Formats: sequence, C-alpha cells, structure tokens
Amino acid sequence: MKVFIVYCHPSEDSFTKNLRDSFIKGIIDGGNEYVMSDLYAMDFKTDMTEQQYLRDAKYENIPFTEEDVLAEHEKINSADAIAFIYPVFWTEAPAKLVGWFDRVWTYGFAYGDNKKMKMLDKAMLLCIAGTPIEKLEHFGLLASMKKVMLGDRLFNRAKQKEFVVFDGTSRKLETRENNWDAYLEKAYEKGKNFFADAGETFTVDDKFFTAIENSESGEVSDKTVFCYHQKGNVIWAEYSGGSIVKGFLIGTMDEDHNMHFNYQHMNTDGELRTGSCDSAPSVENGKLRFNEQWKWTMGKEGTSVIEEI
Ligand SMILES: Cc1cc2nc3c(=O)[nH]c(=O)nc-3n(C[C@H](O)[C@H](O)[C@H](O)COP(=O)(O)O)c2cc1C
Repeated sequence: MKVFIVYCHPSEDSFTKNLRDSFIKGIIDGGNEYVMSDLYAMDFKTDMTEQQYLRDAKYENIPFTEEDVLAEHEKINSADAIAFIYPVFWTEAPAKLVGWFDRVWTYGFAYGDNKKMKMLDKAMLLCIAGTPIEKLEHFGLLASMKKVMLGDRLFNRAKQKEFVVFDGTSRKLETRENNWDAYLEKAYEKGKNFFADAGETFTVDDKFFTAIENSESGEVSDKTVFCYHQKGNVIWAEYSGGSIVKGFLIGTMDEDHNMHFNYQHMNTDGELRTGSCDSAPSVENGKLRFNEQWKWTMGKEGTSVIEEI
C-alpha cells in the first residue's frame, strides 16, 4: 500500500522535519511505501493564475495544462492514502500548503461531477502546533483548524480521516524538549500502523449529519445540519437549518456506540425547546445513520433518523 505524503516546512532545523523522518521510518517498517511532495524543497508554486481562477469559478471542466498540478493529481491517484505533515502558522497550515489546496484541489479533480480524484482509504493530518492543546481548545482554535481541514478540504474524499496534533512544540516551552522523544515515537507508530489502524476507530468527531426521517411532532428535518464532535466518550453537536435557528446537544457515547444526550434549540417561532434522546447507530448503503428515540422535556415522544452527509 502506498501513502502520498504532503510535507510542508521551510526549514530542516525544525521539530516537524524530525517528526516527518520518524513517520516515514514507520511507514517503511510497516511494510508500506510512500511518495512525497516536499513543498518548500520543490518550490511549489502556490499562486493561482487568472486562467485557473476563471476555470474553477465558472466550473469549466477543460483539461489542465499545468504540469506541476497534474503531477500532484497523479501522485494522489496512484496512492491509497494521503498524509499531510505541517506546522501551524496563525491557526492555519503554512500559506504554501494552503496554496497547494488552491491549485491542486481543482474543479473536475477534487470536486464537481465526474471528478477524477479517487476515494482515498485514509487521510491523516500530522499537525505540529507551538501552543499547548488546552489553549487551542479553549479558544476554539483547534476546532477551526479541524473544521477547515476535515470538514472542508478532506470532507468526503477519504474513507477514514484522522487529525493528530503534536502540541506545545514552541521553542519557548519546556514541553518541546520534554515531549520530543515521545512525539517522535508516536509519529513512528502512526506510520507503522497507518493501514492497520484503518477502520478501527469509531467516532462522530467532525462528522456532519442531516435528518432524513422524523415524527410529526419533531422539528429537525433534511434542511437541518448537525456538526458532531467527540472527545473520549463525550459527544456534542451544533445544529441549525430548516425550523431550527440554533441548537446544541451534549451527552455520551457508550461502548456499543449508542449516544445518549440532551438537546436544546431555538426554533424559527422563537421558542426555546429542550429534550432528551437515545440514538443507535447503523450503516445503510455505506452511510452512517443514527436511529433516534427522543422526548421533549414537557411533551410528546418521537423517532427520527439522521444520516451522515
Ligand atoms: C509565523 C509563525 C506563526 C505561528 N503560528 C502559530 C499558531 O497560530 N499556533 C500555534 O500553535 N503555533 C504557531 N506557530 C508555531 C509553529 O507551529 C512551530 O513551527 C511549531 O512549534 C513547530 O516547531 P518547528 O517549527 O520546530 O517544527 C507559529 C510559528 C511561526 C513561525
């Protein structure tokens, strides 16, 4: 099996470079192969031409002529999986990697009818952050990074997605040295077990769902989008759309992946409505579903089904 590694760091004098080498060693020791684009070493061009802008903006599926972009398309489609290794710069990937997405994730390849990009078995993001993870979480910065990468750029382009953060690596923090060896070991294990881990982790983290069935007294519909999150056995989601102006839910997931949560939302009539729900997973036509049994706090019970988008 082959992993396409997209590596993006401007300096060899970096923790990220060491982490990359451990990851690659793991890939090889795991009996797999890799191909890599080292974006700075390649001096990968990141500015979109006006010609590409007009092609993408007008959804014109005319053939590409840009050799460097075609080479990236070829690397993606000849691999089974993709891994991105990059440091966080201003709560984003470095501009060079953002530009790689602008140019490589193009109309007719990564999106649009008859897109040529294959469905990858797995996408892993190894994201190196200077800041401790607690701070990234408390200020919503981790959620922003994950949403952009997993919810938009990777979205449904890989069967399995994993976002791995190596935090506290700032040169000002003791954790950089203290965690150095353990982080490299973790990166090695991530590489070694890259395909062995596939499909083992059940999570709703950063998955989007919509309601495809509901009882008459229910309020969510196929116009409602839920964005779920998960940390350990704690699950939560924001939802909105249709007759829901804004909703939140929080609860737990048990060992059989059943979810138990309380929900509250404001509907378009200005009513604040609350209730509780038990939700059991199933897979239909390859899509994850949750079969929900819910009850308003002061009122009727009902059932609904939400399906992954
Ligand atoms: C311009 C710049 C911006 C950065 N912005 C962030 C940031 O927003 N969040 C963060 O956690 N780390 C940030 N960092 C820290 C980098 O992620 C840093 O490179 C990281 O600690 C990895 O170490 P390394 O460069 O030795 O691989 C920034 C670093 C630079 C140079």
